[in-house]
Amino acid sequence: MSFHPVDQAQARLNRSELAVPGSQPQMFEKAAQSDVDVIFLDLEDAVAPDEKEQARKNIIKGLNEIDWGTKSMSIRINGLDTHYMYRDVVDVVEQAGERLDLIMIPKVGTAADVYAVDMMVTQIEDAKGYSKRIGFEHIIETALGMQNVTEIAGASKRNESLHFGVADYAASTRARTTIIGGVNEDYSVLTDPDAEGNRQTHWGDMWHYALARMVVAARANGLRPIDGPFGDFKDPDGYKAAAYRAAVLGCEGKWAIHPSQIALANEVMSPSDAEITKAQRILEAMAQAEADGKGAVSLDGRLIDYASIRQAEVLVEKAKQISN
Ligand code: GLV
Ligand code: MG
Repeated sequence: MSFHPVDQAQARLNRSELAVPGSQPQMFEKAAQSDVDVIFLDLEDAVAPDEKEQARKNIIKGLNEIDWGTKSMSIRINGLDTHYMYRDVVDVVEQAGERLDLIMIPKVGTAADVYAVDMMVTQIEDAKGYSKRIGFEHIIETALGMQNVTEIAGASKRNESLHFGVADYAASTRARTTIIGGVNEDYSVLTDPDAEGNRQTHWGDMWHYALARMVVAARANGLRPIDGPFGDFKDPDGYKAAAYRAAVLGCEGKWAIHPSQIALANEVMSPSDAEITKAQRILEAMAQAEADGKGAVSLDGRLIDYASIRQAEVLVEKAKQISN
């Protein structure tokens, strides 16, 4: 390990994160009853400009009056380039800060953006005498945010997670797509002709680089990487395929933009029984190897060593977190 310690952000179950528009308070109760891990009440892109003020009021009332159980509660504030953002922070944190766990900052572009919100939240928390510190979730969804993702990830002790906002990221990078997440047939590889002259098209994942880059910045700073929205809520298979790709890269969770996606995210982002059993067998085999004075042994015909212990521990720890 490096001599540089990586402090881990506050641990929080974040397999699924449900987006609920602040302008639709009739949806709050159902969200509170769901099996989702984190809920963000939205003041930004799901809320029309004329509804922003009322949405803020709905959210304050909802946070104070609804029983959200043990769910982590977040609000997505408006961007720092709007005149809504300061009131989002001041009103909601002042009036409902006790039940607010997280603030989601959209379109974050630089470490200074994080600093600005941190300064505001710190003043409000101190003035109100709150004992709990509100954490930050950042949506990496612009070219600028992706360029500065490492500095953003390290910009505040409040930082907990980075989220890949695929829709705005596509717009910001001028990607040729209008769907939210998912794949694109133009991002493919055409194989060379085989002996019969046939060629095949293999679709690729156009979001791979962006997601992988965000995962590295998040993990290098002790934060949770979370995959963002998948717009086609009538396509559970497509959602699960996207969620598995994200999970395999290291993401801990994925957004649900529809309640039907919550169970899919929870399923994909929880290690399966087979994975946990395998991880436990690796730990047992390595404990035996150590007792025998060996650093590496074979299990099921494959080499395992001390790195395998760390990989297996990640899975076992996650399983424990879920069962608590
Ligand atoms: C989320 O905010 C996105 O733009 O995908
Ligand atoms: Mg967005």
